[in-house]
Amino acid sequence: MTDRRSLIAANWKMNGTLASIRPLVQGVLAGVAKGCQAEVALCAPAIYLAEVGQLLKGSSIALGAQNVSNHESGAYTGEISTAMLQDYACRYVIVGHSERRNLYGETDQQVAEKFMRVQASGMTPILCVGELLEEREAGNTEEVVARQLDMVIQQADIAAFANAVLAYEPVWAIGTGRTATSEQAQEVHAFIRLRLARHDNRIADKIRIQYGGSVKAANARELFSMADVDGGLIGGASLKADEFLGICHAVR
Ligand code: 13P
Repeated sequence: MTDRRSLIAANWKMNGTLASIRPLVQGVLAGVAKGCQAEVALCAPAIYLAEVGQLLKGSSIALGAQNVSNHESGAYTGEISTAMLQDYACRYVIVGHSERRNLYGETDQQVAEKFMRVQASGMTPILCVGELLEEREAGNTEEVVARQLDMVIQQADIAAFANAVLAYEPVWAIGTGRTATSEQAQEVHAFIRLRLARHDNRIADKIRIQYGGSVKAANARELFSMADVDGGLIGGASLKADEFLGICHAVR
């Protein structure tokens, strides 16, 4: 089995202002500089990418964006292209977050297009998949996750996953305080890896699969101890430097 370096990525979502983001980044920088086993990334709101990028310069922490257009450029008012993100040295771009899918109607097809655009640009997509509560309760978790994943595999080709990160985020665990148990997470992570392995064993073995959904410093170690959980995508708990650092340091 490959040694996969865990990735802890903050997804600040639509939170913060310049006044709160500066001390947050400085706090995270100071904590990570003391030593951290995981790779760390901060996915900032687009308007703060320049600022956060400046603050992170020369550090080991990567910059990430939360969304990107599925189009290259042109008449798409309010949208942001991969070229624009590259101007600010973004390394990661979250695609297919459930809030984009469920609140803004992003389809599996659009998510696949975004994935390919990020991929082609040389940045690394963090592709989110995950089921709704009613889908889990109906026993459809694997079917939903497989559908979301297969669309991207079909469109982008399995080779594209050599430069990608996956995030399993059960929608019912996001922002609810109701974390998946480590067994529930492991079960879906193993399913995802197996699904990729049908196409390419090596890529399946190497790809990092993050867990997201109410991860806190207090439950991170348990989740990250599972064989197929390679770090986390962190929402609420990434808005406080100490809490986020506690999660980063839970990676052993
Ligand atoms: P919370 O950590 O706030 O549950 O959010 C998870 C998430 O959606 C990260 O992308």
